[in-house]
Amino acid sequence: MVRERIEELRRQLELHNYKYYIENAPEISDFEFDTLMRELQDLERAHPEYADPNSPSVRVGSDLCAEFATVRHRYPMLSLGNTYSLDELHEFLARIEREAGPTDYVCELKFDGTAISLTYEHGALLRAVTRGDGTQGDDVTANVRTVRSVPLRLHGEGWPDYFEIRGEILMPYASFDRLNGEREANGEPLFANPRNAAAGTLKQQASAVVARRGLDCTLYQLAGDDLPFASHWESLQRAREWGFKVSHEARICHNVAEIDAFINHWDEARRQLPFPTDGVVIKVNDFAVRRRLGFTAKAPKWAVAYKFKAEQALTRLDSVSFQVGRTGAITPVANLEPVLLAGTTVRRATLHNAEQMALLDIRPGDMVYVEKGGEIIPKITGVELSQRPADSRPFEYITRCPECGTPLVRYEGEAKHYCPNQSGCRPQIIGRIIHFIRRKALDIEGLGEETVELLYDNGLVRTVADLYDLQAAQLAPLPRLGEKSAENIIRSIELSKRVPFHRVLFGLGIRFVGETTAKYLADHFRSLDAVTGASREELVEADEVGERIADAIIEYFADETNRAIIARLRIAGLQFEASARELDSESLAGKSFVVSGRFSRSRDEMKELIERHGGRNLAAVSGNVDYIVAGENMGPAKLKKAEKLGIRILSEEEFLAMIAGDGVRDPERSSAGTAPDEEPGHPETEGGLLQGGAASGHPEPAGAPANSGVRQGELF
Ligand code: IVH
Repeated sequence: MVRERIEELRRQLELHNYKYYIENAPEISDFEFDTLMRELQDLERAHPEYADPNSPSVRVGSDLCAEFATVRHRYPMLSLGNTYSLDELHEFLARIEREAGPTDYVCELKFDGTAISLTYEHGALLRAVTRGDGTQGDDVTANVRTVRSVPLRLHGEGWPDYFEIRGEILMPYASFDRLNGEREANGEPLFANPRNAAAGTLKQQASAVVARRGLDCTLYQLAGDDLPFASHWESLQRAREWGFKVSHEARICHNVAEIDAFINHWDEARRQLPFPTDGVVIKVNDFAVRRRLGFTAKAPKWAVAYKFKAEQALTRLDSVSFQVGRTGAITPVANLEPVLLAGTTVRRATLHNAEQMALLDIRPGDMVYVEKGGEIIPKITGVELSQRPADSRPFEYITRCPECGTPLVRYEGEAKHYCPNQSGCRPQIIGRIIHFIRRKALDIEGLGEETVELLYDNGLVRTVADLYDLQAAQLAPLPRLGEKSAENIIRSIELSKRVPFHRVLFGLGIRFVGETTAKYLADHFRSLDAVTGASREELVEADEVGERIADAIIEYFADETNRAIIARLRIAGLQFEASARELDSESLAGKSFVVSGRFSRSRDEMKELIERHGGRNLAAVSGNVDYIVAGENMGPAKLKKAEKLGIRILSEEEFLAMIAGDGVRDPERSSAGTAPDEEPGHPETEGGLLQGGAASGHPEPAGAPANSGVRQGELF
């Protein structure tokens, strides 16, 4: 019964996922979808024996945190020859026709993301591997499983028992804007463009983070030993029937004129697409012709990429100004003579940081090249030296804060300069208060950015704690306020005392502690005292908390000014404790556990089970621990210590038996596919941030040997 229901829910959810993410034609509301999903998740949690790594529920992500395993590509992932010139493209096509005679082509968009190879076995997703060096790549299966447009199980029929399909993991502009918006609010460095954001996200350690970032996946090439197709076009149509997202923009072109028309159309029309593209890929359609043409040392001779030129404009750099963020980070900004670029007037461009400016030797008065490319924020890519004024001198970067005059500092590993005067620098103080009152934090309505500036400039607030001492009588006489607004403000300040703990924690504005991290911290530690008292090792035990975040938390609470503010907020009556959880049972009440090793479910789920049954999780093996729940590969040091202290060691089965009778059954499954490590919470590994300066294009993979070395499968 339960099993049938689980299967029915999975089938329905897969279907609605497909309708939503592939066909863009949802049939049920988000609410209905969420309700079905919740039912499936509840059933799967209660019946771990029916777990399946390809269940649509796993798209929410797990707490996977191992280094990625390296996997050899069965068929090398080749590069493509590329050109920016139509003449060169025409020559390329002429060469093909000299060798193979007139032939048809498939023209596709060149998606600007990061390449991925998906392997399917018996119709189910087996593995997802990045291109890496073309010969071997990183196994990012757990992350790719969270991408909704990747089918975990294939539809229809006729798919080969074992095959690979290649495509691009993309970040649509909407997801990119949302992500960078969040990062900005959290004082984190921004991603320079959607491509870097997609690649960085795919290499995240926690797939739960990946699941939230809204990646997409478009497929454009099959590989396999005996693929049942004679042409590329046919293979794309079939792949679409099997549930893959295959671009509807691809066209068969019969001659050069049609190819040119395709290119001309998309050079302009691509601006309306919701995801980034950087060119057109032209491929020979017929597999027999492809086979005849073969490969060069590193790319097929039957395909080429025509790349669109990034739009550029030349304009004068009038001056450089400096922005001071809430965290004190200084961003140099170019003030430009207004210039039209890709349909908008550009007046300002980011200059990233001092190093980037020095690298390009940018000086006020210079004529500079501004580019938009795939990037949202325009950037300066070069200086027209021939037009440099004779009296020009190298730009000297500021050494003091433009707002408060404090000497700037550089932190190790950070490209930006910082103003360290956190408690006395106006934009930092105002920025922190504005962050605190945001809707997602303390949600103090009626207090906007301008009012906060007004309060600051009238000496009424210096820290967020001052908000709670405000009186309506102090506010009413201020310009633009009056009695009614004053009362509203005081009322919403009063109401903010009921805002739950995790939002208070977010509102404090600890570096890198975004909304979600705050939630995880609150969930794990349950109170501010527990967070402040936690060691670095204990902090990284919480989901999503890596060493970098742990250090930022420790640094924040080590600061006396911060501690004084918190003491006042506590007196004011803010929520410093998470509200009590409802328990499933009290069967583990009063008992302390350490969970170690690999289990048939993630370690966090094991810990959640302990808490749901009234037990307590401890981080380290000590005399305070009653039980160790030991999975596969439990660390030998921990085991030895536990034995020495005489602590009882439970297997997963024994542990589940302890709480049995509460709807949890002993699972009869192997431990495949769960978090395999001892050390949760690696720091984020994200490449290509805006801070790091401009990122380069696709890396050239190691070439495959000419013709003979390439396996047949790659041809199709
Ligand atoms: S075909 C052997 N088609 O461009 C040919 N690639 O520079 C395999 N790309 O690694 C690639 N859109 O990451 C192909 N429609 C498309 C593409 C595409 C983007 C990327 C892909 C590839 C790189 C080559």
